[in-house]
Amino acid sequence: MSPQDASSATSASAQPAAVVVLAAGAGTRMKSRTPKILHELGGISMVGHALAAARGLAPERLAVVVRHERDLVAAHLAALDASALIVDQDEVPGTGRAVQAALDALDAEAPVAGTVVVTYGDVPLLTTELLEELVATHEGDANAVTVLTAVLADAAGYGRILREADGTVAGIREHKDATDAEREIREINSGIYAFDAAVLRTALGQVTVNNAQGEMYLTDVLSIARAAGGRVAAVVTEDRWQVEGANDRVQLAALGAEHNRRTVEGWMRAGVTVVDPATTWIDSTVVLAEDVTILPGTQLHGATTVARDAVVGPDSSLTDVAIGEGAHVTRTHGSGAIIGEGASVGPFTYLRAGTVLGADGKIGAFYETKNVTIGRGSKLSHLGYAGDAEIGEDTNIGCGNITANYDGVNKHRTKIGSGVRTGSNTVFVAPVEIGDGAYSGAGAVIRKDVPAGALTLNVAAQRNVPGWVEANRPGSISAELAQASATADISGA
Ligand code: UD1
Ligand code: CA
Repeated sequence: MSPQDASSATSASAQPAAVVVLAAGAGTRMKSRTPKILHELGGISMVGHALAAARGLAPERLAVVVRHERDLVAAHLAALDASALIVDQDEVPGTGRAVQAALDALDAEAPVAGTVVVTYGDVPLLTTELLEELVATHEGDANAVTVLTAVLADAAGYGRILREADGTVAGIREHKDATDAEREIREINSGIYAFDAAVLRTALGQVTVNNAQGEMYLTDVLSIARAAGGRVAAVVTEDRWQVEGANDRVQLAALGAEHNRRTVEGWMRAGVTVVDPATTWIDSTVVLAEDVTILPGTQLHGATTVARDAVVGPDSSLTDVAIGEGAHVTRTHGSGAIIGEGASVGPFTYLRAGTVLGADGKIGAFYETKNVTIGRGSKLSHLGYAGDAEIGEDTNIGCGNITANYDGVNKHRTKIGSGVRTGSNTVFVAPVEIGDGAYSGAGAVIRKDVPAGALTLNVAAQRNVPGWVEANRPGSISAELAQASATADISGA
């Protein structure tokens, strides 16, 4: 071992010089207008998962090779990771050409020396930990190439790992180029590797397109490196999911389910109670605290966060919702909302963007809310709509209240103070303002501001017209029953 080798062997957690993510392929089996690698699982695109795993290695540089749907993919990548170098592959097909394009582009900025890791944009369950293991073995053993492999029950379609009698890796044979005997091999090439940059650069210069597919195979680098005297080795993973790609929507769903299973298990190990993991879906981007309880049939998406002791579900779907400590959210569909500490929402509640519910507040059954701020302890318990409004603290909004916020052209705001009590079926015709401590009678249609402490009544006084039904609806069931009731009153008197 040279001193250089010794130092690399001890720095197993060294940052690789570069990671190259291959993402130029067409992905036709998805049968989709959306490029394959932009399809999502766990709330993140496949290539987003690949970038996250790669970034976890803290490489000095990161390149992504694109070609199919180039502009769409490039825009997505720029939004995900502005510092990733986007490299265009030319018409020469093959994984070897893709890596060559990346290496050329990186070298043009500054020559790459050291370890280059190659991964795929369509292998979403690969973790940084497994890549770290690959790099540690590669550098620790001073390999020229280290390939990540797995042993599969059905290896059809994959490149097979060719080994010498003593077990050393001799090379990789693509399925289409393999003999029947080679097709019996069940150890497959994941397509994920660590290379020494100098070896990679030289070997790629020797790769041809003389094969069954007429492509530049990256896999040829292994035998070329070995012939030149380099050490070629494999890291075999037991976890086949980490090397599996999604080529069609069936595989995408299977990977999505496994990804979710892992995410949910991770949260349970971190102190979250999940009553039914099979019907609980949690995006990678969601953050949960200890002692949160998730009831069956719950989907948590996007930037949703749940604080300690909160209970979510059953049957709730929440996107970008922040749930405070000890809050309860039951059978609710929500997005873009903030729910305060100890507050309660549901059942059968629709929270739309801009809903902010204060601590200990309540939005009850069959309520729809949008762009509304509700103060501490205020309650909207049943049947209504609150939009474009501001409600103070300790206010009680009666059953069936509606903010009429839309005049057909513009939206207007309703402002309701603190300590207000509104009667059932109050309608607030915005813009309108209700002062602190005001009351409204049942059925009030409020078109003008109500001062603090006032009772507002604007429904006409009730008038009863005796005998109206018998006179105007003779012979009807109502008239017959009314008559029977009147006779009973007389005979009973
Ligand atoms: C490749 C490997 C095979 C391995 C399999 C694992 C080669 C020659 N074969 O086969 O040994 O078992 O992956 O899934 O490498 N890509 C580009 N540019 C291209 C072609 C592909 O960027 O010109 C990208 C694709 O977007 C994809 C990855 O490389 O992310 C693999 O391409 P794919 O066509 O799926 O390779 P396979 O033929 O399946
Ligand atoms: Ca593939």
